[in-house]
Amino acid sequence: MIETASVNGKITALAEATVPVLDRGFQYGDSVYEVTRTYGGVPFLLDEHFERLENSARLSKIKLSRTRSESLEEIKRAVTAAKPLAGEDVFVRFIVSRGVGALDLDPATAGPNTFVVIVKPIPPWKKDFYDKGMILFIPTIRRNSPRTLDPNIKCGNYLNNILAVAEAKEQGADDALCLSVDDKLTEASNSNVLFVSGSKVLTPLHEPETDTGNLRGITRTLLQSLCKEAGIVYEERPLRERDLEKMDECFVTSATREIMPVREIRSSSGPRHRFTEGGGATTKKLQELYGQYIEKYKSSHNAEAWF
Ligand code: PDD
Repeated sequence: MIETASVNGKITALAEATVPVLDRGFQYGDSVYEVTRTYGGVPFLLDEHFERLENSARLSKIKLSRTRSESLEEIKRAVTAAKPLAGEDVFVRFIVSRGVGALDLDPATAGPNTFVVIVKPIPPWKKDFYDKGMILFIPTIRRNSPRTLDPNIKCGNYLNNILAVAEAKEQGADDALCLSVDDKLTEASNSNVLFVSGSKVLTPLHEPETDTGNLRGITRTLLQSLCKEAGIVYEERPLRERDLEKMDECFVTSATREIMPVREIRSSSGPRHRFTEGGGATTKKLQELYGQYIEKYKSSHNAEAWF
């Protein structure tokens, strides 16, 4: 495929796409975005991604200048222009910035939105991440509090997550597992984190009234319903670093990583926590259920295929 971008409907090769320097997405990270992908040409869980985008826009007081169907048309045009081969899976990032404005924080000075679509191949995650699992490091930097910048706003300001992943990489780990400012586990830099303890799947609770929060991941929400169907207990609850001792398995979820095992969690102060390499029995079961769900989704949504 040809890596492609669309900026307010203008389609170019990705490397040539530009936004104005006065765009507030560029100036302030004043934008919201989504990442989805296709399976066999079928866009995956697009309604859920649009709902989350609209929620992020509402929480950031960004007025959307395009309707869902107008946005969808621009996305489809960009995907078609990328000329993916039949069966090739594409990564789609769509970004809504508040728009171009004066150099003034007042959001009333900006608009209409800048709508950007990026179409690329799915990130080539290291094979080792699935065969063995990732190493996560608990950095000193804390995840934004829902009372400052709510992690449920999937916004263009990822500096918090960037600093976390930078610290993790400096320590030789693959990604970060961030604590909240009130010392609870939150999420990895761009994925949710889940654990298996005995027969239960556990994941940090989003607690908007406190300082602990994480993004309501669409992959994790899907997993919640797959657990329910399979009779596996799934619980969102406050979790702390000391709870890691009780965890038998660990994995992260996101649209592009799907279900990726974690083999070790390190921190500068505490002990190392090791989990089954390549994921334990429950992680593998969930990967299997996820794969089956995708196959069913592809056939039941065939009419919506983009290519
Ligand atoms: N990231 N938490 C954060 C901070 C994220 O950025 C993401 C997604 C997730 C998982 O959400 P989902 O299951 O809906 O992909 C959790 C995307 C993939 C990204 O920024 O590339």
